[in-house]
Amino acid sequence: MEYFTTMSNVSRRAVDCVIVGIYERGKLAAGAAEIDTASKGALKRHLKNGDVSGHLGRCVVLTDVSGVRAARVAVVGLGKFSAFDVRKYRRALAAALQAISRSKSRQILNSLTLEKTGGAGSYYLARHTAQAVGDALYRFTEMKSGKKPPAMPLKKVGMAVAGRGDAAKALRGANHGDAIVSGMTIAKDLGNLPANVCTPSYIARAAQKLARGNKNLQTRVLNETEMKRLGMHSLLSVTAGTKEPAKLIVMQYKGKAGQKPVVLVGKGVTFDSGGISLKPGPGMDEMKYDMCGAAGVIGTIAAVAKLKLPINLNVVVPAVENLPSGRATKPGDVVKSMSGQTIEILNTDAEGRLILCDALTYSRRFKPDAIIDVATLTGACVIALGHHRTAVMSNDDGLSADIVAAGLSSEDRGWPMPLGDEWAAQLKSNFADMANVGGRDGGAITAGCFLGKFTDGMNWAHLDIAGTAWKSGKLKGATGRPVPMLTEYVLGRCGALP
Ligand code: BES
Ligand code: MN
Ligand code: ZN
Repeated sequence: MEYFTTMSNVSRRAVDCVIVGIYERGKLAAGAAEIDTASKGALKRHLKNGDVSGHLGRCVVLTDVSGVRAARVAVVGLGKFSAFDVRKYRRALAAALQAISRSKSRQILNSLTLEKTGGAGSYYLARHTAQAVGDALYRFTEMKSGKKPPAMPLKKVGMAVAGRGDAAKALRGANHGDAIVSGMTIAKDLGNLPANVCTPSYIARAAQKLARGNKNLQTRVLNETEMKRLGMHSLLSVTAGTKEPAKLIVMQYKGKAGQKPVVLVGKGVTFDSGGISLKPGPGMDEMKYDMCGAAGVIGTIAAVAKLKLPINLNVVVPAVENLPSGRATKPGDVVKSMSGQTIEILNTDAEGRLILCDALTYSRRFKPDAIIDVATLTGACVIALGHHRTAVMSNDDGLSADIVAAGLSSEDRGWPMPLGDEWAAQLKSNFADMANVGGRDGGAITAGCFLGKFTDGMNWAHLDIAGTAWKSGKLKGATGRPVPMLTEYVLGRCGALP
């Protein structure tokens, strides 16, 4: 997508559509006020007649507004003036894009960037503009035959700004936002693909393909024989029931010589049937999304590589399919992890931790400055936080705070959850060093504690994205989260944020 800024009056730009806002009680936002003047009061007349309103997210597209060069004016409600913030900015912009999505607009101009938005500033408003555009244009039609409905033919997006300083910040924000969108698109596509297509081998090929386009990015793929040699018997126990070969995907982005890397580990269960501890039937299709951790970290490294950020970033993805069969792992089986610790597998449906623990041990070789694993790990996390926030657990309060802060400023929010011996005690086993489940109570936390047994001495955080990685129901689809949060964290480490 091409982005531009403009300091001229929005009524003077000959675009296909200009987006303006109205607050509750008829207060016109800056762009709307200018258009109202240029059109000799057209907007105020529409307000009076009840055709447009300040109700947050309500949008009406007007055509042939006199005195205005744009072919259309999308008038969107912004809600209460005093309560307007970045979240409402995003909601309003999404509504406006939705309203004009059926029009043939190629060039649009967004004037909402002129608003005071809870101190967000031009950089973030532009970034969220790019993300809203990315979300509005995203379609997943790969699996449909026949004629595919066209997306909006949008080519150019303008942002109104007050001065030169803001213009520079906005362009930088749009550039970062565009890279985040491309990372999110990768994550959404991998997530939405069905499990008969998106296998461990498919993800491995996708990772290799990404590296082909970028000389600072490398991908290596380890097969089951190599994993066996490394002693990854915990990981391999999950893949025992399927014919689909497991892969360990290792990606390295080099952007700053001599610096310790940040390592991102993503759960890549391409389908989680539960194994012998079989899941119930209804909704099981959604377990194709059990590789969204993998998709999120691959999307993030793609965004970081696209922006050529000065950082070393590694991605490690254990990719497997979890199915029952005559060869599958059974409840009660004991396996030895790569760390040497033994695990009693009491529930084959708690498989994410079994692949992540070996991937975390493997990652030690990179001597990470920080290591963050990302996983659709527990249903308990969804019970705790719903679908709004990613759970953040860490053995380092500073790292946890940085990630939560990154989630806040990128509007891809997280919330801290505790770890501790009290919960870890639930993982005691009579037969091995630990069990892979700790009962229903505090299930998201005991899963985090399990991983914590493999991260001693590392600066580690765990993100449970079970509630945030995809949407169910009518809007079923991958969200691309937590690519914004993770990219924001990396941008912050690089000193690339305003
Ligand atoms: N992939 C699931 C977690 C999950 C379930 C995410 C539903 C999103 C929606 C994970 O592998 C799993 O099955 N976890 C079990 C753990 C339990 C057996 C301790 C769970 O949450 O039920
Ligand atoms: Mn499971
Ligand atoms: Zn799972």
